[in-house]
Order: sequence, then C-alpha cells, then structure tokens
Amino acid sequence: MKAAVLGYGTVGSGVVEVLQKNKEEISRKLQDEIEVKYILDLREFPGDPNENLVVHDYQTILDDEEVMIICETMGGVEPAYTFSKKALLKGKSVCTSNKELVAAHGPELIRIARENHCNYMFEASVGGGIPIIRPLNSSLTPEKIEGITGILNGTTNFILTKMRDEGADFNSVLKEAQDMGYAEKNPEADVEGHDAGRKIAILSSLMYGETVKYADVYTEGITKISPVDFELAKQAGYVIKLLAMSKANDGRPYAMVAPFLVSKANPLFAVDGVFNGILVRGNMLGNTMYYGAGAGKLPTASAVVSDVVDCARHKGVTISCNWLEKEKKMNGIEEVSRRFFVRFDADSKSDLEQLKELFSAEKVIESETDGFAFITKNMSEADYKMKAETVDCIKGMIRIEE
Ligand code: HSE
Repeated sequence: MKAAVLGYGTVGSGVVEVLQKNKEEISRKLQDEIEVKYILDLREFPGDPNENLVVHDYQTILDDEEVMIICETMGGVEPAYTFSKKALLKGKSVCTSNKELVAAHGPELIRIARENHCNYMFEASVGGGIPIIRPLNSSLTPEKIEGITGILNGTTNFILTKMRDEGADFNSVLKEAQDMGYAEKNPEADVEGHDAGRKIAILSSLMYGETVKYADVYTEGITKISPVDFELAKQAGYVIKLLAMSKANDGRPYAMVAPFLVSKANPLFAVDGVFNGILVRGNMLGNTMYYGAGAGKLPTASAVVSDVVDCARHKGVTISCNWLEKEKKMNGIEEVSRRFFVRFDADSKSDLEQLKELFSAEKVIESETDGFAFITKNMSEADYKMKAETVDCIKGMIRIEE
C-alpha cells in the first residue's frame, strides 16, 4: 500500500516517522505494508534520510496509480483544499490533521469521498493524538449527544498552566510552545481561540450530523487574563481554562470558546500542560472523557496514521461519517445562564456594596496586591452584559463552569 505525505513540517515528518518506526507493528495489525512513496514539499531536505522521496509537483503523486492514500499535513485552506479534492476525485483517500480545512470544507470533502468510494478522514484535526472523531462516529452512535465540553487547544493550556504554576510571562511561554511544535504558524489562532473554535465546530457537526459553521461559534481568547486573575481564582478554588463547549441546551443549541473558571469537581480541572481533555455527555451513557496529548509532532502524527491504517483496511469502501452539508442553525449565547467572576481594582472598594447588589454577588475574594473580585449569582449572559454596561470599573470577567 503506497502513501504520499503532503507537507514535510512538524506533523508531516511525524507521519513518516511513525510509519517507518512502527512499520512492523502496523504491518502485523494490517496484514499489509504501508510505504511512503512521496513527500510533497516546496523545500529540499538535504541530509534527511527521506530526501529521495521529496517531490515538488503534486501531479506526480496524482498520476501515480499506486498511491492510494494521501496524508495532508500542510495546514491552511489552500492549496490543501484543491489538492484534497483532486485526490478524492481520483479515488485516493485523504487523511488530514488540518482542522482549518475540515471546519471550512469537511462535509463537501466527505461527500466527494463517498461518491468516489474512498475516505476523507480527520482524526488528527481535533485533540491531537486523542481518539475523539472515531468514538463520535462509531462507539457513541446509540447516543443523543447533549453536550461536548473540552480543552481543545494544547498551546493555550500549556501557557495557562505555566502562568499559573510558575508565574511565567505570557510571551516567553508562547515562544516555548512554538519551539515545542505545539503552536500554529500564526499563534493568534491559538491564543485568540480560533483553533479551538474550529475544533468545536467539527465536533458539534458530528454531534448533530449537520454542519455547524465556525463563524457561529462565539469566540474569546486568553490574552486578557492577568496574573491577578490566577491569584483570585486559586483563592476561590478554581483553575482558569480555555474551554470549548457545544450544548444542545433544550433545542436552543450554542457553541462557544472562552476562558472559564473550572471547579475541582470538574474532570477538566486536572487537565494541564499540552494535554487536552474532552467530556462528551450522552443521554443514555452520561459522561465519557477523552484525554491525551492535544498537540505535538508524534501524537498528532499517530492520529493521522490511525486513519491511514483504517483507509488501508477499507480499500474501495467508504467508512460511515455522520456529517451532512446541510447547515445546523445555532443560537447566540445571550440566553445562556451561569455564574460570573468579576474583577475590580482597589479604587472600587468604596462601591463594593452597590456593586455586590447590582450583580447579586455571592462571594468576595480579595487580592493581596491588586483589587478584588466577586462571583455573581446565576444570571443570563444578556443580563450580565446589561449590568456590566452600567459601570465602568470592571477590570476583568471570566465565566464559571462548575
Ligand atoms: N496549535 C494546536 C494546539 C495544534 O495547540 O492545540 C494541535 O491542533
């Protein structure tokens, strides 16, 4: 079985490494061998053990009838979209780690694969090495999924953990995440929540079987979180996590990404560093949790190779994937109710009683150095927003997930 890898960057080189290092293991399970015949990249890789596999013209791969599986690890929408489409139209299966492309064109590529008796597979597009697409597509088929809540971005979880535990500076930890191969080419996608937003759009689409558009996911990143938020959250018994969530919400479905204060009672409380955790709530099964390395070369590559093996096992057969092109109508978050952590500077102390009354505050937490915060009673997002607009002394707000 011959494969080609498009893009010899962090994930692409990892795919070649996994296929070569675990060749025996994979062959034993597959009862066949998978060999990388080509690596497509604009660059040369002199001295690399696979330099002789590198080609620069995609047509060479498309025209080679021996190549049945394409690993698309290029990232970005174009040219990955055009390349994937051309491969599928020729009956070659495509396995990808490219969440941007899956979120933008996934259901169309799934349909084209079905029409051409091959597969468009995307296990590595969400949660790095964690199996989550396969469980949603197969193990959880009896369930009506009521909600998915996850830490879906390794870079931001790594940053938040280091800021909390080591008091580390945001930019230097981001640089560390980039050096470890966790961050996106443009790390704004990580820190502003867009990467997690694309991933929750993909999971939501599998939850409903219809397309949840990334643009319908309310998104906030982690750049406004300050060291005093960590201090006050800790005092109140919470950790700060960038959560991506999608809730069926009694027929008023919504999806969002934002920093949350997470309580000890929540299994996501303990998900630290580059790890991701995904809680899926089924109406019969209750909660299941999926945990593992959410980013990084070999974990992500391992997920791509799991798809490669599945494609090799299903030559000429399309594996079922419940995701149609029809758009799922989502709601905004205005009506969603929760508690809020609201922070003020020390100068607002004299207004504490009025502020507490305005926000029906339950618990005041004082910083040793910089102001105070309180936790509101349960209220809707719209209600919180309306109240917050009447005062000008709020320094920060973080939602609470118990
Ligand atoms: N930049 C992504 C992350 C890579 O940090 O989670 C894995 O999708």
